[in-house]
Amino acid sequence: MRIAILTGAGISAESGLGTFRDKDGLWTRYDLEEVATPEGFARNPALVHEFYNQRRADCIAAAPNAAHNALALLQNSTHDLALITQNVDDLHERAGSKGVIHMHGALRRALCAACDHRWDAPVAMDPSDECPSCSASATRPDVVWFGEIPYQMEAIQEAVARADLFVAIGTSAEVYPAAGLVETAQGDTLEINLAPSARANAFNARRFGPATEVVPAWVDEIIK
Ligand code: APR
Repeated sequence: MRIAILTGAGISAESGLGTFRDKDGLWTRYDLEEVATPEGFARNPALVHEFYNQRRADCIAAAPNAAHNALALLQNSTHDLALITQNVDDLHERAGSKGVIHMHGALRRALCAACDHRWDAPVAMDPSDECPSCSASATRPDVVWFGEIPYQMEAIQEAVARADLFVAIGTSAEVYPAAGLVETAQGDTLEINLAPSARANAFNARRFGPATEVVPAWVDEIIK
């Protein structure tokens, strides 16, 4: 069976990484306009680097959980799996998943705003850092900010459209284009979340509960 999976912050919640819109979520503690937009970065690059340096340190200190591990197990099964994530952490990769599509970029990667060069980010980035390729002091986290175009959308649309089953895990379905992928799906659709997302009714089926319980149980059924 061809399966396309979209994950969101909820799959990393039990690894201790905050979500965005839950109680005490990141967007309840930071103004996203200041730390997750190109305008915010232009106004105060030091604040933006500080925000992502903290998230990068939290990500390095975190460990994949049973839900990440279950998806890595699923990828090694007979099924054809496309794993797409809105998350910028690397917990899917550290659980053993390969070829993960990071539509919102990755905390562990850096980008030069002057020449588009990309490289593995240092643990802490600073506005005075120079690009290893063009030496401009224009380095930024390689993450997609509000108002910017998510990565690999063509490949994502294709993977979701050709899937027999599209599964969304741990996302509030508040942010497009990710939230619209359920419409692109041609096969069955399943939402796995702690609580119904904004698009819960667009799915054929729904399973609610913590990802570390519901995802391994679902994967066990699928690979049996
Ligand atoms: N298990 C399963 N789901 C969970 C858990 C858990 N333990 N904890 C929280 N959730 C669910 C919440 O119910 C919520 O629906 O995860 C979802 C998290 O929603 P958001 O915080 O909005 O995160 P996400 O959907 O990934 O946000 C999408 O918004 O700010 C941008 O770029 C950012 O990629 C992010 C995008």
